Amino acid sequence: MSAAPTTEPPPAFRGTLLICDDEEGPRLSLRVVFKDEYNLLLASDGRQAIELAQQHRIDVAVLDIRMGGMSGIEVLERLKFIDPHIEVVMMTAFETADTMRQALRLRASDYINKPFDIATMRAAVGNAFHRRSLAGEIQDSAEQLNHLMAELQNQKVEEQISRTRGDIYASIIHDINSPLTVISGYIQMMNERIGVANQLEVEDLLFIKDNLKTITRQVTNCIEISRRYLGFLRRQSEASTIVGVNQLLTDLAELVRVHPSVQNNEFSCTPLAEDVTVGVNGTDLIQILLNLCTNAFQCTQQVHRVEVSGEVLGEPIAPAQIHDGPNDRWLNIESFDNTVPLLKLTVRDTGPGIPAEVLPKIFDAYFTTKSTRNGTGLGLSIVQRLVKAAKGLLHVHTQAGAGTAFTIYLPARRKD
Ligand SMILES: Nc1ncnc2c1ncn2[C@@H]1O[C@H](COP(=O)(O)OP(=O)(O)OP(=O)(O)O)[C@@H](O)[C@H]1O
Ligand SMILES: [Mg+2]
Repeated sequence: MSAAPTTEPPPAFRGTLLICDDEEGPRLSLRVVFKDEYNLLLASDGRQAIELAQQHRIDVAVLDIRMGGMSGIEVLERLKFIDPHIEVVMMTAFETADTMRQALRLRASDYINKPFDIATMRAAVGNAFHRRSLAGEIQDSAEQLNHLMAELQNQKVEEQISRTRGDIYASIIHDINSPLTVISGYIQMMNERIGVANQLEVEDLLFIKDNLKTITRQVTNCIEISRRYLGFLRRQSEASTIVGVNQLLTDLAELVRVHPSVQNNEFSCTPLAEDVTVGVNGTDLIQILLNLCTNAFQCTQQVHRVEVSGEVLGEPIAPAQIHDGPNDRWLNIESFDNTVPLLKLTVRDTGPGIPAEVLPKIFDAYFTTKSTRNGTGLGLSIVQRLVKAAKGLLHVHTQAGAGTAFTIYLPARRKD
C-alpha cells in the first residue's frame, strides 16, 4: 500500500477522516478499521496532512504525536489554523506531561495511547465526529441567527426611513401652508383693490408691484422649504447661511400682518436693541417663529396679545436653570451649543396657558388639541427639529390663565 494521499472526492453524506502517521503499520490498520464508515485521507507526514487539509474539508484527524519532520503538535496547530472546527485525536506513546498540555491547549479533542486497541480508537473517533457535527449544527444555527438579525435590523432601518419620509412629506405640506396662506391673503387684497376699478391709477400699480414682491418672496420660501426637506431626504446637510436677525423680525412682522389666524388679536414684534447674526437658514428661523406665532394666535378664541421680542445674552445658560416642571419644559439640551453670545427670542401670548397634563405631549408629532381641520399637530415637532439642527435650546414656560412663552436660544455672532 502506498503512502500517497488518497484524493478521490468523498461522497457528500460521509464525514472525512484524516489519518497521519509516519509508521505504515498503524496507518494501514486505521484504514482497515474506518474505511467503511468515513471517507479516508491518509498522510505519511505532517506536510502531506497539511496539503490534504488545504484541499479537502476535513471533519476529524487522527495524528501521531511523534513523527519525523513536522511533529504531531505542529500539524495540530496548522490544521486548527486552516479550520478551527477540525476535531483532532492525538496518538501518544511516551509523551511528557508538557507535550500533552500543549496538545490540549491547542484544542486537541482527545488522546489515545499507542499501541491502541480498536474499540477505544473507534469510540474516540466516533465522539470526535459527533462533536464535529454538533459544532457544525451550532455554527449553522448561529449563522442563521446572524442572518435573521441582520435582516431584522435592515427592516427596522427601512421602516424608520419610510416613517421619517412620511413625516418629512407631512412637514413640507405643513410648512408650505404658511407661505401659501400669505400668498392667498395678498392676492385677496389685490383683488379687493382692483376688482372694482375700471382703470388702474399709479398708486394701484405701485400697490400691486409691492404686493407682487411679497408674493414672489413667499413663492421663493415655498421652493426653499421643499428643497430643504428634499435635501434632507437625500441625506444632504445644507450649509447654513448667516442671517441678520432684525431683518428676519421685520419679515416676520410683515408675514404675520396678513396671516388669517391674527384676526382681532394684538401683535407686536420688537427688534433687538443690538442686531446679531445667527448661522441658521433664514427660512428655518422664520418658520420657527411663524409656527410659534400661529400657535399663539390660535390658543384661544378670546381676544389676546402676542409679542415677539428678543435680546442678546453675554452669559451662557446656567445648567441649574434648565429643569422641567409642571409649568416648564426644556428641549434639545444635549445638542445645545451653550456658547456666548446667545440670541434669545421669545414668542409670548396672554392666552389660557397649557394644562400640566398636556405640556409633556405638545412636541410629539401629530399631537394636537385642535380639530383636524385646524391642526395637524406637526408645528412644534418641526420647531423642535429646526432648533435642534441649529444647535439651539428650546424652552416653554406656561401659567394657567396667564399665558405661554416659547423661548429659543441660538448661538449668535455680533455684527462687525
Ligand atoms: N401658545 C400656546 N398656547 C396653548 N397651547 C399651545 C400653544 N402652543 C401650542 N399649544 C398646544 O400644543 C399643541 C401642539 O402644537 P403644534 O403646533 O405641534 O400643533 P397644532 O398647532 O395643534 O397643529 P399644526 O401646527 O399642525 O397646525 C396644540 O394643539 C396646543 O394644544
Ligand atoms: Mg401649530
